[in-house]
Amino acid sequence: MSLKSSSKVLSFGSKKSSSAHDAAAKLAALNVLKSNVMIADEDLNIIFVNKNLLTFLEEAESDIQKDLPAFDTTKLIGTNIDIFHKDPSKQRKMLENLPEGYETSITVGGRVFGLIASPPV
Ligand code: HEM
Repeated sequence: MSLKSSSKVLSFGSKKSSSAHDAAAKLAALNVLKSNVMIADEDLNIIFVNKNLLTFLEEAESDIQKDLPAFDTTKLIGTNIDIFHKDPSKQRKMLENLPEGYETSITVGGRVFGLIASPPV
């Protein structure tokens, strides 16, 4: 099995009010970054995926679906991240007490993803 790797920066806990959407608009600047960025609000609904990550996920979609059949790149915005986590309470607990810039890697559909989780600044 070939392993491909990519890094993604995940942020979470952005306020749900319109300020979250203002922030998302500002973060549209992130679309020009080569990094992969995904942002979830305080309920852990995905509110932003930058272009680089979207392109990567479209390309990886069929592999990801081997482990996560519900994964659909076109429906990511608005989806709660819980549906992708085997034991969502584990991630929720981790995210509540996350050290600054938590780094790890996860394997999904035979691909290795570098992951940096970070609370909003
Ligand atoms: C902003 C959005 C997201 C955040 C903050 C987040 C956060 C996390 C965290 C903290 C972990 C635990 C890592 C560890 O155990 O050390 C994790 C694992 C994982 N995440 Fe996410 N995640 C997000 C979105 C997604 C999405 C969209 C997918 C779908 C591909 C996904 C799939 C997984 C998988 C498969 C694991 C490891 C296995 C598991 O525990 O279920 N995550 N995530």
